Amino acid sequence: MRVLVVGSGAREHAIVLALAQDPEVTAIACAPGNAGTAAVSEQLGVAANDPVAVAALARRWSADLVVIGAEGPLVVGVADAVRAEGITCFGPSSSAARIEGSKTFAKDVMAAAGVRTAASETVDNPARLDAALGRFEPPYVVKDDGLAAGKGVVVTTDYDVARAHACTLLDGGHPVLLESYLDGPEVSLFCLVDGETVVPLLPAQDFKRVGDGESGPNTGGMGAYAPLPWADPDLAETLVRDVVAPVAAELVRRDVPFSGLLYAGLALTSSGPAVIEFNCRFGDPETQVVLPLLRSPLAAALCATATGKLADLPSLQWSDGAAVTVVVAAEGYPGTPRLGDVITGSEAEGVLHAGTRRRDDGAVVTAGGRVVSVVGTGADLDEARTEAYRRLDAVHIAGSHHRTDIALRAVNGEIAAPTPS
Ligand code: AMP
Ligand code: GLY
Repeated sequence: MRVLVVGSGAREHAIVLALAQDPEVTAIACAPGNAGTAAVSEQLGVAANDPVAVAALARRWSADLVVIGAEGPLVVGVADAVRAEGITCFGPSSSAARIEGSKTFAKDVMAAAGVRTAASETVDNPARLDAALGRFEPPYVVKDDGLAAGKGVVVTTDYDVARAHACTLLDGGHPVLLESYLDGPEVSLFCLVDGETVVPLLPAQDFKRVGDGESGPNTGGMGAYAPLPWADPDLAETLVRDVVAPVAAELVRRDVPFSGLLYAGLALTSSGPAVIEFNCRFGDPETQVVLPLLRSPLAAALCATATGKLADLPSLQWSDGAAVTVVVAAEGYPGTPRLGDVITGSEAEGVLHAGTRRRDDGAVVTAGGRVVSVVGTGADLDEARTEAYRRLDAVHIAGSHHRTDIALRAVNGEIAAPTPS
């Protein structure tokens, strides 16, 4: 099987590495890729957000399966264009991708499916902003209604900060979503979904804030670990039953069946799990910790999903151990990152590339905000964490920063899953 992976982040690097383990896979290409994927797969140039260009590339390269990494291409219909060429594609249609592309649509689907989520209000007129904010209590949660690469959200107890973020979004022509605050540990649950069939992967946890101790602004994600030692062993099954399956069924009922990876971001609150967001693709950086633990062949699972045969897929098998990833970000991230800095140590094992490119002189340099995602695995979370930070020590980028506390509270037994009252 020839597999084309579309994207250029550490998530795609992790997907390429997992596909390379599948004996059915005979060739892998990544487009447009980065310096890391170029070392382990064929690198092809493409504008990932251009449905016509991606479909033409998939045909030219004779892909048997196309895997779309990011939400941008899915929302604009890249999967539809690939399927229109008669090529199997892992990723939802543009209509189903609205579960991520429009938070208002997602809220509507969840309400119809009876799935718990934060109370919310959409504001598109600045004149209504103060009255709307007045209906919420701190901490305020202010979001961009559309796609914002994880950076459109401000959570703050400060009314003026909340108001200022909403005004910036509205000034830019973006409707604003105000939400009630959900308290409790966060969980990322990835599920393969084919219509009403839902198969969960291992639950993971992502670290959204830029700084240690959850300080600073939100980012695309600064680290992750899996599985969750503090969680109920039935957590994934419960979340599938109460959250993901009802949403998948509601999408089928609306005639926008989901095919691909549906990612539920949840808070485990004292009144039970509540959805923070749905994403229509693998999460980044959680993929970097979930896929190294998967023992079943990845291409077979993605193909079964994409061809409507997920119900026939044998149960997924997982390693007993754990994985931790720590993201190294460029100076300036999550603001404007400085690009072009030389990276040393990026060829080492466990270093997945995100914003990197190889210069003509052979040097690997920074080409994005999140530069590399360093992964460690081990028999337990403590070992995996130690390994991730040990590997990270060998990576050097001028001005870079990373969190030093990824998975630390979980290792120290400081996270407790609330018992729903
Ligand atoms: P999102 O882009 O919607 O995933 O939000 C990014 C991050 O902001 C989440 O991972 C949470 O840490 C935080 N967040 C978003 N919405 C809420 C909410 N309603 N209550 C608490 N935290 C939230
Ligand atoms: N880990 C957050 C995201 O992929 O959106």
